Amino acid sequence: MKKVGFIGWRGMVGSVLMQRMHEEKDFEKSFTPYFYSTSQAGLQGPEINGQQSPLENAFDIESLKALDVILTCQGGDYTNEVYPKLRESGWNGYWIDAASSLRMNDDSLIVLDPINKKSIDQALNQGIKNYVGGNCTVSLMLMALGGLFEQDLVEWVSSMTYQAASGAGAQNMREMLEQMLYLSEQSKTIIRDASSNILELDQLVTELTKTKEFPKKHFGAALTTSLIPWIDKEMPNGQSKEEWKGAQEGNKILGHQGIKIPIDGTCVRIASLRCHSQAFTIKLKKDIDISEVEDLIQNHNPWVKLVENQKQQTIDELCPTAVSGTLDIAVGRVRKMNLGKDFINAFSVGDQLLWGAAEPLRRMLNILLAQT
Ligand code: HSE
Repeated sequence: MKKVGFIGWRGMVGSVLMQRMHEEKDFEKSFTPYFYSTSQAGLQGPEINGQQSPLENAFDIESLKALDVILTCQGGDYTNEVYPKLRESGWNGYWIDAASSLRMNDDSLIVLDPINKKSIDQALNQGIKNYVGGNCTVSLMLMALGGLFEQDLVEWVSSMTYQAASGAGAQNMREMLEQMLYLSEQSKTIIRDASSNILELDQLVTELTKTKEFPKKHFGAALTTSLIPWIDKEMPNGQSKEEWKGAQEGNKILGHQGIKIPIDGTCVRIASLRCHSQAFTIKLKKDIDISEVEDLIQNHNPWVKLVENQKQQTIDELCPTAVSGTLDIAVGRVRKMNLGKDFINAFSVGDQLLWGAAEPLRRMLNILLAQT
């Protein structure tokens, strides 16, 4: 029976992972779970199949060494600290990670099995031991446009993103709501006075976002009533690191050596809770009928939900509130662009915590358990 250690299972991504594992009855499969903590070792762990054990210490290399598989959602700092020590100690188990630290290493595969199951099987055969979840925006883009990539129809893609607060972390998600609460509380009398002057209300709210009481410790700016067109670090070429990941990780997942398909755009944080949206401009290698484009997108994987390019259906179904908490990858606004007959417009929405984070890891664990 394989021994599988879970680290960071109580954080936001980890909790979604646990929820999905329970929903899919993964814990009834044949492996022994061990739960670790970076701060509460010794306290009682979660009840699984009627059994509860004390939490193990997530920094105890000797304890980790006994595991066959480690699945961590603890974050990059943990990976950077513990992973090298564990490998140096001679541990040769499987490391499944939500953090980006090891993603671009040659001895790591980025996992997104509806896109790269063949690469995963090949990597397992070759003895690759590190399997890392991709950046959420990249995974969601590939899930949405997988049919076009699979047929090698894409010359390049521009992806302009609308990314949820959850991508920045649980504290940011809460801060976004705190911002809403602060503005609502401070301006509710004037909002509810239908005869109040809208420009005075606008001025009041804008000024409130600039006060020192306005909660912005985590974002450093207003997200509510505004947006932030920069995500992650600055890269020397003027891209944000989130934008850099598009081409780097996207091509790596597709199994390309180097940047075979250019992917670029502006990544923007908006006041959505947990769904990332993206507007695509896709340059195809040839002119194909729009109905064929739709078929390829829709039939690529069971999670794509094609939304007809029609106003009401788009408003109802192609938005974060419709997709949040589901595994759907909504894709719509599919049409030829005025830019030329081989230019396609599309818009997609996916849950950042599910296909964007926890689900590829859960599925990788299952692939491993089925295989070994
Ligand atoms: N970097 C993403 C974001 C998180 O900030 O939205 C998912 O990888």
